[in-house]
Amino acid sequence: MSGFVGQVALDGPSGTGKSSVARAVATRLGAAYLDTGAMYRAATVAVLDAGADPEDVEAVAAVVAGARIEVGTAAETELVRVDGVDVAIRIRGPEVTRAVSAVSAVPAVRRRLVERQRALVVAADAVVVEGRDIGTVVLPDATLKVYLTAAPEARAQRRAAQLGITDPAEVAALAADLRRRDEYDSSRADSPLRPAEDAVVVDSTHLDREGVVGRVVELALATVGAGA
Ligand code: DC
Repeated sequence: MSGFVGQVALDGPSGTGKSSVARAVATRLGAAYLDTGAMYRAATVAVLDAGADPEDVEAVAAVVAGARIEVGTAAETELVRVDGVDVAIRIRGPEVTRAVSAVSAVPAVRRRLVERQRALVVAADAVVVEGRDIGTVVLPDATLKVYLTAAPEARAQRRAAQLGITDPAEVAALAADLRRRDEYDSSRADSPLRPAEDAVVVDSTHLDREGVVGRVVELALATVGAGA
């Protein structure tokens, strides 16, 4: 065991490698792991399956209020269910990715999921929580807050490599989609994407995954060493 006790809030835009960093940090620290983006994605599956318009705030709120959304907190396995059905693969598909910004901008959805996130966190002695508003809203007293960022071109290149895309026009389309989602997530009225004042900003443009993981683990262990 690493000796780390507490909460690591890991926020930042998409395409920074945040999820794989968060999982690896959780494993290294012997901590639980919570992917809050997976919860918003699961809520989006419920909205799409109900035939509701993701832009219709009231319809979205009603569907999500009635849906049973479950996520696991183990770093090694991904468990995501909606009304008992495994949606771990579906939540990563383009249909969900297109609609999730709108669903996650609905205040009633955020209130509901933030409440669930806090309940899941309380159950763990050590936990890494990734999202957009963890340090600013969900866990304002987190032991460590990290805001992971990278240049948009680097983020688009990484996404392309993951998806096996090499065509420059397709990479440019990915970069445009990342910018569109950043803009939407940063400008929404409820819990916009931004670093908490006391967050450590880590820029991964010129760091590989291991470099970023090492830095976050070091910061987390320093909080224990400092008797925080
Ligand atoms: O990290 P991700 O791509 O799986 O997140 C999916 C969407 O959910 C993204 O558009 C931002 C939103 N989100 C959010 O608003 N708040 C969070 N804590 C996590 C994700």
